[in-house]
Amino acid sequence: MAYDVRIAGTDLHFACDSQQNILDAALKAGIEMPYSCRKGVCGNCAGGIAAGEVQCPPPGDAAEPGQYLFCQCLPMGDLEIVPTAWHRIDPAARKTFSVKVYRNTLAAADVSVLQLRLAAGQRARFKAGQYLQVALPDGSRRSYSMANPPHESDTLQLHIRHVPGGQFTQIVPQLKAGDVLEVELPFGNFELREESAAPMLCVVGGTGFAPVKSLLDDLVKKGIRRAVTLIWGGRDRGGLYLMPAVERWKKTLPGFTFIPAVEDAADAQALGGFHGRVDDAVRAHHSSLDGHEVYCCGAPPMVTAVKKACIEERGLDPHHFFSDVFVPGPAAR
Ligand code: FES
Repeated sequence: MAYDVRIAGTDLHFACDSQQNILDAALKAGIEMPYSCRKGVCGNCAGGIAAGEVQCPPPGDAAEPGQYLFCQCLPMGDLEIVPTAWHRIDPAARKTFSVKVYRNTLAAADVSVLQLRLAAGQRARFKAGQYLQVALPDGSRRSYSMANPPHESDTLQLHIRHVPGGQFTQIVPQLKAGDVLEVELPFGNFELREESAAPMLCVVGGTGFAPVKSLLDDLVKKGIRRAVTLIWGGRDRGGLYLMPAVERWKKTLPGFTFIPAVEDAADAQALGGFHGRVDDAVRAHHSSLDGHEVYCCGAPPMVTAVKKACIEERGLDPHHFFSDVFVPGPAAR
C-alpha cells in the first residue's frame, strides 16, 4: 500500500510504499534529501516528522532525540516530514555503464587505485564528491567515491581499501587492464558548496581522501579561490598513499595548508605532521571553526569524533558540517 509523504511547509509530496523507506521513495520521486550511508549509521538523513506514524529501528547515537533516520523509516500512513534540506533532482540522470579497467595500482599495502575508462564517446556526469556503485555478479553492489574531478568525464578513478574477506575488495588486486565492470552513477550529495567563500577544513581518514581529491581538483579546475586546510589521517605515512596530489595542490591552490596526522610517532615527526588522531589534529590546529565549512570523509567513528570536535568544541555551525561516511559491505539500493 502506498502512502502520501509531504514535505512540511511545501507543496512537494511523493508516494511511499509501506515496505519502502522514506529516503528511497523521495529519491525515486526526484527529491533529494541529505544522506550518505543509507544503512542507519551516519545520521545524515535524520529529520523530523510533523504528522503521521513511522516504523523504524531505534536510531541510537545516529540521530538526536525526536529525529528519525529517513533511510530506515517505513510509513504507517500518510506523513508530513521535516528534512534538514531538500532539492529536486532528475532521477533519469543516473546511468549504468560498462567500463574497462585501464590501470590498477597498489598505492598502499591495503589500497588499490583503480582507473576505469568509459566506452568511446560516453561521458559520466557527476558532481565532485559523489559516488558510484559497482554491480557484482551476485547482484549485490559496493559504493566508491569518484576521486577524479567531473571534467575528466571519460574516466573514473576509485580508491579501494582492501577489507579482509571483502567479496569485492579481495579480487580488486587481481583486476587487470581490459577487465570489465558494471557501474551506476551518480549517487550522494557530499558536494562542494560553490556559492560559499567560507574557509574549508577537509578532514579525511584513509581512502576518505578520494571524494575530497575530487573536490579539490574541481576547485583548481574552476579557479575557485578559498582557504583550504586538509587534514589527512592514517596509521603511518604509507597510509597517505597519494602525496603527489597534495604536492600539486600546494602549487595550484592559493591558501592551501596540509596537515598529515599519523599514529606512528616516527612517521609523524618525519612528515612534520601531527602525531595522533584527526579529531585531535582539528583541536590542535583550530581554536575556532566559526565561519568555516568542514568536509569530512572516512569511517563512522572517525567522522563522529570529528563532528563532535568541530561542533561541540570549536563552534562550527552544524549546518556547515558535510560528511561522507564509509560503511563497508553491500550498498543499500
Ligand atoms: S543513517 Fe541514513 S543515510 Fe546514513
